[in-house]
Amino acid sequence: MPASAAKQLDHKQRAAEQLLDHYRSNARVLPWRSPPGTAPPDPYRVWLSEVMLQQTTVKAVTPRFERFITRWPTIEALAAASDEEILGEWAGLGYYARARNLIACARDVAKRGGFPDTADGLRELPGIGTYTAAAVAAIAFGRDSCAIDTNIERIVARLNALKDKAAIRAAAEAMVPAGRAGDFAQGMMDLGSAICRPKAPECRSCPLQDECASFALGRPEDFPERKTRQARPHRHGLAYWHERDDAIFLVRRPEKGLLGGMAALPGSEWRHGQAPDDAIATIRHGFTHFTLDLHIVESGAAPPNRGWWQPLAGIDEAGLPSLYKTAVERVLSGRAGKSPVQSPRNA
Ligand code: ADE
Repeated sequence: MPASAAKQLDHKQRAAEQLLDHYRSNARVLPWRSPPGTAPPDPYRVWLSEVMLQQTTVKAVTPRFERFITRWPTIEALAAASDEEILGEWAGLGYYARARNLIACARDVAKRGGFPDTADGLRELPGIGTYTAAAVAAIAFGRDSCAIDTNIERIVARLNALKDKAAIRAAAEAMVPAGRAGDFAQGMMDLGSAICRPKAPECRSCPLQDECASFALGRPEDFPERKTRQARPHRHGLAYWHERDDAIFLVRRPEKGLLGGMAALPGSEWRHGQAPDDAIATIRHGFTHFTLDLHIVESGAAPPNRGWWQPLAGIDEAGLPSLYKTAVERVLSGRAGKSPVQSPRNA
């Protein structure tokens, strides 16, 4: 924009314009996006990417997104798939409540004949909260909604030297450029990932440097308020290894609770306690609210009533979440390491 026009704008609008200019030439090419300034992408792709990106990185999501879209190119195709197929494809992306909501949402949207096109309408769908509704409304439907995730919160907090959440939200909403909310949201996401990072921000390359109050104070990392991370409690659990005829016994976890509805080794509850003496492998896993040592023990007892024998040759098709996939791999590789060594010929 011409310099004379830029002068007329207030600080927030100037920052938004600079951000959009920067996004035009630096936008990351991602499979759920369309290039800056062009027609919006398919809402199905935008929604799917946003659900996958909740707490999972762009790097981890990108190949998984491609696989999902290739397997189910439309929301109708996804809605018609079985729970097991979808949960299997989701395996390893964590947070299985998200996959459950994804299934419910796909079926709901397919039944209605399409996504609602406003943030309020989108928020009524399973698994869609305030952020996701605003992101899909802005990116896929060109609505002027403001999608505030931790990246955008951090950038706006630094830009205005703010710590109070409500003030940050109000400042972010005041920045959204009319008719450009989708590019604005995605430009902020890119800035937050490449430049205005939580630690060691690259202020020298920041297009918003001249507008940034925390940069002027010389302390960008002081904004927003730093969270003191609570120590997570530690738990132990047993997973039972039943094996016969090159197959292991798997169960489906209860629908409600962690890893709900996913395939798993049968096991005990996860509680405070101690490691057993006879574990053949132990996997340490971090959940949001606690850490877990899952101890795998060989079971001489009969397997539980409900479950199935999964051939080890087809273990990848079981849809095991990463905790149990790692457990199985660890047991099998430990066994390979302990395979009998050749004894010396004349001993
Ligand atoms: N994080 C959340 N949504 C995103 C998007 N659309 N692009 C990149 N990172 C994101």
